[in-house]
Formats: sequence, structure tokens, C-alpha cells
Amino acid sequence: MLNIFKVLRSKDGSAEGGMTGQPTGDTMTIEDLNISYGTNHAVKGIRMSIPLKSVTAFIGPSGCGKSTLLRALNRMNDEIEGCRTEGAVTWKGVNILDPKVDPVALRSKVGMVFQKPNPFPKSIFDNVAYGPRIHGVADRPELEKIVEKAIKDAALWDEVKDRMDESAMGLSGGQQQRLCIARALAIEPEVILMDEPCSALDPIATSKIEDLIEDLKKQYTVIIVTHNMQQAARVSDFTGFMYLGELIEFGDTEQIFQKPREKLTENYITGRFG
Ligand SMILES: Nc1ncnc2c1ncn2[C@@H]1O[C@H](COP(=O)(O)OP(=O)(O)O)[C@@H](O)[C@H]1O
Ligand SMILES: [Mg+2]
Repeated sequence: MLNIFKVLRSKDGSAEGGMTGQPTGDTMTIEDLNISYGTNHAVKGIRMSIPLKSVTAFIGPSGCGKSTLLRALNRMNDEIEGCRTEGAVTWKGVNILDPKVDPVALRSKVGMVFQKPNPFPKSIFDNVAYGPRIHGVADRPELEKIVEKAIKDAALWDEVKDRMDESAMGLSGGQQQRLCIARALAIEPEVILMDEPCSALDPIATSKIEDLIEDLKKQYTVIIVTHNMQQAARVSDFTGFMYLGELIEFGDTEQIFQKPREKLTENYITGRFG
């Protein structure tokens, strides 16, 4: 598989550029992250370490910068004209915001699932085989193995195993979203970003995705944005509360919801605004 880091390795094998001196083995570390759209300063001086192999949720009222922050983690903001990012995000000893890091390769390691399920108008099989094919897997038995594993990991296999050649557009919304998760898993990411992945789904489909997130964290790092506080409380190990572009508080989910340190966090989680 791709190694996004090789471009940043110097001859002696040490990483160059973006080293921060912090232990980075088990976290993704955000330092002084500022993101603006023109004159709109959307993310303000965020510093935090996101633990790997766990679920981190970002909550906060609409427009507080959650999606902007999330998109920084796989450089999706690069695609938005007029969006300027400063600061560092260190993962595995490399600053992934460094222009020398190839964003396409990065996105194969840091996958993303969006708010509205967005399957391609192709068969169920071809949706999930799409990424591996792009990365050069052409052998049919190998593709079948990868596709089956990804769909199983996305808790969708039993529902689709007999209709792999049917169009993905015929699936329900919840199934489509799990298919999009399978599509993301098929390229073997290590981190999965989810931006309000249940907001278009009914409660039953939502609870299936929540169960799935619980499973995924054994193998992957999951970072989820949600405006649904109950969802954050149910699925996440760590929660960050954002307000007007700032990270007000970050900690254990239980602590954030039961003993918030900041008055603003308390006001938000008790429903006084937002
Ligand atoms: N693509 C974009 N172009 C210009 N401004 C944007 C874009 N996306 C978000 N913004 C602005 O950045 C701020 C934060 O938005 P966003 O990150 O979408 O917040 P949230 O996800 O918490 O609702 C808002 O002021 C929003 O208008
Ligand atoms: Mg958003």
C-alpha cells in the first residue's frame, strides 16, 4: 500500500519538516491550527492531541468550525478556494499539512464519510472496489476478498451478499451510508473522519451506524462531527466542544458531559444555547 510518509523521510530515515518534539506515536497532534475563508476566521488557534484507536467527537453549534477542523485532517480544505490553513497536524512524526505531503495519498490513509450518503451510480461491488482499483488492484479474486472484508467490517454483508451486482442506488439510506463506510474501509485507512454521518438517517439506521462506530475503533481511529450531543455521549471516548471557532474544552466524554470544566460547555450540554 501507499506510504505517504516516504516523501518526508530524509536519507537517515528520520522525518524532516513538521517534527514538533512531542510524542506522536499514539496521537494525532494539532498545534496552533488557524483556518480562514477570506476574512472569516473559522478555526482559531486549536491545540489538542487526538488519541488513536478510539472515537473522538466534536460537538458545538452550527457554524462553529467543526467541519472545517475535520476537513483539515485529510486536507480536504485544500479543495476549497480561498481557504487558508496555518499550523501543524502531526501524525506519525509528520506534519500532514506540509505541502510536501501528497493529499491524495494522505486521503487513502485518512478516509472520510460525509453527511449525505453519496454512493456512485454503480453496482454495490463496484462502489467498494472503486478505491482498490484506483490503487492498482486488478485481480478479481483479490478484489472480491477486499470488497467482502470491507462490507463485513461495515456491518452490511448479510444485507447485500446476494445482490452485489445490483445498483447501490437501490439500497436504503442507512445501507447506502454503511456502503460508503465500506468504500472508505476498502482502501485500508487508519483514520476515518465522519461529518454528521447520521443526520440524513432514521433512528434505526442511526443506531446501526453507532454500533458500527463502536466496532470500528478496535481497528481504526474514528473522528466524528455531530450536532447530536446524545450521539457524542453514546459513541465517543473523547469529546471536544467547539464554539465560535475555538476549542473550548476537550476531554474524556464522561467528564465533558458530567463534569465540564468550562461554563460555556456546561451551558451548551444542558441545552441553554445551540
Ligand atoms: N466552503 C466554505 N466557504 C466559505 N466559508 C465556509 C465554508 N465552509 C464553512 N465556512 C464558514 O466557516 C465557518 C465554520 O463553518 P463549518 O466548519 O461548516 O461549521 P460547522 O461544521 O460547525 O457547522 C462558518 O462561518 C462558515 O460559514
Ligand atoms: Mg458542519
